[in-house]
Amino acid sequence: MKAAPVLVVDNVSKAFGGVRAVDSLCMDLNKGEVLGLIGPNGAGKTTVLNLISSVTRIDSGDIRINGTSTRNLPPHGVARLGIARTFQEIHLFKGLTVLENAKAAGHLSVRYSLFDGLASLPRSRREEAKIEHTCMDILRMFGLHGDAGKDASSLPYGRQKLLEIVKALVTEPSILLLDEPAAGLNTEESNELRDLVKEAQKRFSLSIIVIEHTMEFIASISDRVVVMNFGKKLVEGTWDEVRCDPEVLRCYLGED
Ligand SMILES: Nc1ncnc2c1ncn2[C@@H]1O[C@H](COP(=O)(O)OP(=O)(O)O)[C@@H](O)[C@H]1O
Ligand SMILES: [Mg+2]
Repeated sequence: MKAAPVLVVDNVSKAFGGVRAVDSLCMDLNKGEVLGLIGPNGAGKTTVLNLISSVTRIDSGDIRINGTSTRNLPPHGVARLGIARTFQEIHLFKGLTVLENAKAAGHLSVRYSLFDGLASLPRSRREEAKIEHTCMDILRMFGLHGDAGKDASSLPYGRQKLLEIVKALVTEPSILLLDEPAAGLNTEESNELRDLVKEAQKRFSLSIIVIEHTMEFIASISDRVVVMNFGKKLVEGTWDEVRCDPEVLRCYLGED
């Protein structure tokens, strides 16, 4: 029997005024899978990630993570279910170092109470040490450990994009959502980022949804691809199946 999907988007709709950003969308993410989410600008891709991470409330339908509905959960409640995401734009804390940025993200997933934190009990100190260890470990994996003490905003753009992924990983997610992680990167940087995402996926047993415009990136990382247009799912399948689909070609040609 096929294992149940880790994430189910069940007939979800979201409108902004008259715009149907996401329209009756059904989509599954299987365990250990990399799902590419593509489509022209304005297709509703980012809105899908916002709905999954509860940054935006759904109008109708349901989203389930390992069987649990996220309908009434705030973003940190969804994070506790094992979801982490990056944003299309850089979301770093300016004035904090690279390590401090990573640690700030790690604190989201800490299990000690506020009281322990305030009283600085040994348990919270152990947690603190554990977070720092996890952060340095993942920074090293992404080649950023040498930058740990630098102001995050002083890093070149490409390395800031890597740090965004580090911040997501230190929360120890099981599902990672990436919104255009390679946007603005050159081919070499984009390939490096793709290889690191693949490595992280194996090492942390992640299931991933990734939005990207670079088709080489999508082709080389995705097990399966969902193509959206006007809030709806146009087609899904392997990259080789969807890339020649006449409807897909038409919606991309229409854009350009
Ligand atoms: N917060 C918002 N308020 C109003 N309209 C929005 C908002 N977010 C997205 N939209 C609209 O929803 C549609 C889908 O946007 P988006 O999900 O960002 O698309 P994509 O990521 O595929 O480019 C667009 O028409 C966009 O203008
Ligand atoms: Mg977008």
